[in-house]
Amino acid sequence: MRSVIHFVFFFIIVFNEAQVNGTLNNKRFPDDFKFGVATASYQVEGAWNEDGKGENVWDQVTHRVPSPIVNNDTGDVACDSYHKYKEDVAMLKDLGVDFYRFSISWSRILPTGFDNKINEAGLQYYKNLVKELRANGIEPLVTLYHWDLPQPLQDIGGWPNEIIIDKYVDYARVLFRELGDEVKYWLTFNEPKQTCNAGYGLAQKAPFITSPGMADYLCTHNVLRAHAKTWRLYDEQFRKDQKGTIGITLDIQWYEPSSNSTADIEAAETKMQFALGWYANPIVYGDYPSIMQSNIARRSAQEGFKESRLPQFTEEEKKYMKGTYDFLGVNLYTASLVRATDEPNPSMGLDEDSEVLAWQPDDWETAFSSWLKVVPWGMRKLVTWMKNTYDNPKIMITENGYSDSGTLEDDGRISYYERYLSSLRDAMEFDEVDVIGYAAWSLMDNFEWLAGYSEKFGLYHVDFNSPNRERTAKKSALWYKNLLETRCLVEECVD
Ligand code: NOJ
Repeated sequence: MRSVIHFVFFFIIVFNEAQVNGTLNNKRFPDDFKFGVATASYQVEGAWNEDGKGENVWDQVTHRVPSPIVNNDTGDVACDSYHKYKEDVAMLKDLGVDFYRFSISWSRILPTGFDNKINEAGLQYYKNLVKELRANGIEPLVTLYHWDLPQPLQDIGGWPNEIIIDKYVDYARVLFRELGDEVKYWLTFNEPKQTCNAGYGLAQKAPFITSPGMADYLCTHNVLRAHAKTWRLYDEQFRKDQKGTIGITLDIQWYEPSSNSTADIEAAETKMQFALGWYANPIVYGDYPSIMQSNIARRSAQEGFKESRLPQFTEEEKKYMKGTYDFLGVNLYTASLVRATDEPNPSMGLDEDSEVLAWQPDDWETAFSSWLKVVPWGMRKLVTWMKNTYDNPKIMITENGYSDSGTLEDDGRISYYERYLSSLRDAMEFDEVDVIGYAAWSLMDNFEWLAGYSEKFGLYHVDFNSPNRERTAKKSALWYKNLLETRCLVEECVD
């Protein structure tokens, strides 16, 4: 009997090892592949009203009564990185990252949102941070805009008002001028689909406006034009001297056809176009995906509109827009299944306009955030799809990460990272996708938007109950550090 138990036990161990190790890619990451971690200004900085900073839309909504945020949490103090950036850089150094992706708070630089007044103290903060990073051999990757629009610009309509295009370019110009000698990697926007669809369509993010299939389309149109103008500004006026590179970060989940039927395969492709193509197609090819143009024009006509709810680019704009990227950044966390339907929902809205159905099966593994199903194979499928759809661009994974409710023994996070990175490495090895880097979200626990501090994504724990906001390395931080040293997901890699 004992030997049977032993055998079963042995079998379980061996089988598990094979399951875990057998599935991980054993090729070393190339030497020029860059590893980093990411954060964003509103989520970590705090100091919301210090040293001349102006109010932004997240300051505004988190101070509303009643608050839309879990536990009435705010980013007023957050991780207090405004005061503790040296500690943050020490953590980055200890992890051994090649780069740190952080964002700049527009209201800290231009308190009114306009460039009539530059806040020198705010600028100095970022100069200090960049200097500290450089002194420690860490490359800064700067996101110009991670959702924190100055409130005065929201007061005149925010992103759906095209006045904002030039205001954004003015802001970008200040940053290129002031920081461009030291910053060589820029991202114009982080996840504009969240700014526009969640912010102005579905009222799920600041400024919480409900205008699906209308304001979100106008918002995107202006974001895209602001992006193109900013890329061209850099390309024409700064690149020669500063020699940097500039992209955009788009959010996407992988949309998998729910069956092998042609209808479901086409439905999944449609969903990809409505989610990623909405932004990537204009930037790469100069115009919105044709399926978006045709669906929305047809539905708008049926609804009695004289013109499509999807705005149109002029021929000149299409030429101007096309090719405005050096690399494509992508934030990938999860996946969904997609199927075709004969009964499209007639309501206005991005999802409805796609006329397909997407969902996440209940029995898929889930992180702590309900939307975050753990689907590692989606990583390889996504980047390969991007390679094929966008003519083999340079791709950077600017975010990927796992939430839990908060523990230092975060094995779930390690397992997530292992499997997603393995899938990414597979794409590089077998599909020859040109992936240039990867940033884990996030350096430390931080303000997770509507979820406040209830969902944790950090490699480092932050004690939000303590005024000092002490940081403590989690098990995943040690794991990531080891990965960055070995650049290898298994015990021994081949080159
Ligand atoms: C993407 C966003 O860019 C980031 O701000 C957010 O915290 C993570 N996803 C996790 O939800």
